[in-house]
Amino acid sequence: MLAAVITAFGGPDVFALTEMPDPAGDVVDVTLAGVNHGDVHRRRGADEKPPLPAVLGADVVGRLRSDGRRVAALLPAGGGYAQVAPAGHVVGVPDGVSDEQALAVLEQGLTAWHSLHTLGRVGADDVVVVTAAAGGVGHLAVQLARAAGARVVALASSPAKRAFLTELGAHVTVDSNHPNLGAALGEAPTLVLDGVGGRTFEQLHRALAPFGRIVAYGGAADVPNTVAVDDLMTTSTGVLGFRLQQVLDDEELYRSSAARLFHLAGRGLLTARIGGRYPLSAVGRAHADLESRVTSGKLVIDVHRLT
Ligand SMILES: NC(=O)c1ccc[n+]([C@@H]2O[C@H](COP(=O)([O-])OP(=O)(O)OC[C@H]3O[C@@H](n4cnc5c(N)ncnc54)[C@H](OP(=O)(O)O)[C@@H]3O)[C@@H](O)[C@H]2O)c1
Repeated sequence: MLAAVITAFGGPDVFALTEMPDPAGDVVDVTLAGVNHGDVHRRRGADEKPPLPAVLGADVVGRLRSDGRRVAALLPAGGGYAQVAPAGHVVGVPDGVSDEQALAVLEQGLTAWHSLHTLGRVGADDVVVVTAAAGGVGHLAVQLARAAGARVVALASSPAKRAFLTELGAHVTVDSNHPNLGAALGEAPTLVLDGVGGRTFEQLHRALAPFGRIVAYGGAADVPNTVAVDDLMTTSTGVLGFRLQQVLDDEELYRSSAARLFHLAGRGLLTARIGGRYPLSAVGRAHADLESRVTSGKLVIDVHRLT
């Protein structure tokens, strides 16, 4: 099989197209692989350092070789940027859901769903702020929050992204680069979904209404945050964290929530934007685009296109 392999940590140019043996055990013959911000962190070798040489890539869609079923799979240990991937956490994809949609609503959709519903307990009375709202997770969270009847305030850095978010149903959009996000919101959020961290987290946490909560699921800004429990008691607010791993650890929860997302996608009630489709030789370009903050939605790799 061909794979985009890294032999050193670094910038987006570390990927090289390499012929490798197929992974051992049951495998997925991949059609599309997803690009995730977590892969950028691992490529840089910033905190998680996978053993080298490494095939990054945390989600794929294709056919399970053992029985030919069309499946999507999440691969916390990597292996996705390849024509054949290990059969990790596999779920069947229903007929009415395309490969692109299945890939785009799995990792990002599970994150949006569990952050909003399982942790955030979103309801029709909520004012929900979604950061990185045009991103892979954010643009699904905007749709799911709207479907829950909440008022939605979406943050993004460009007019084009903000126009996209208005089309998706956001009631208000705000420039994510505004120096004072709390003031720019114009209203106090009761629930914040944050995939950015750093200054964004701090300002939005301070802006919460009493009894409001912030769900931190990601750190695109790469700046860690610390929360003082005394401050939470002073303001009657809550901070919750989300990691997909806990969903993967509970097979029934993983399957049922993936099935729910596929059901919504199949009926057109949740529509993922495909923000870019790249050949396997251009994984590095996909990473550079993701890091540049110009992309929206989900980026996918067509593993059988080589140029
Ligand atoms: N907890 C989990 O299990 C889990 C699962 C999936 C993803 N995540 C994490 O959630 C975060 C968002 O994921 P995603 O798939 O939605 O990512 P994405 O599509 O790459 O969106 C990231 C967005 O973050 C915004 N951003 C703000 N400050 C940034 C900065 N300094 N550098 C880069 N981007 C910045 C940008 O939007 P604007 O330019 O519009 O502000 C960017 O487009 C990532 O950190 C990812 O690793 C966590």
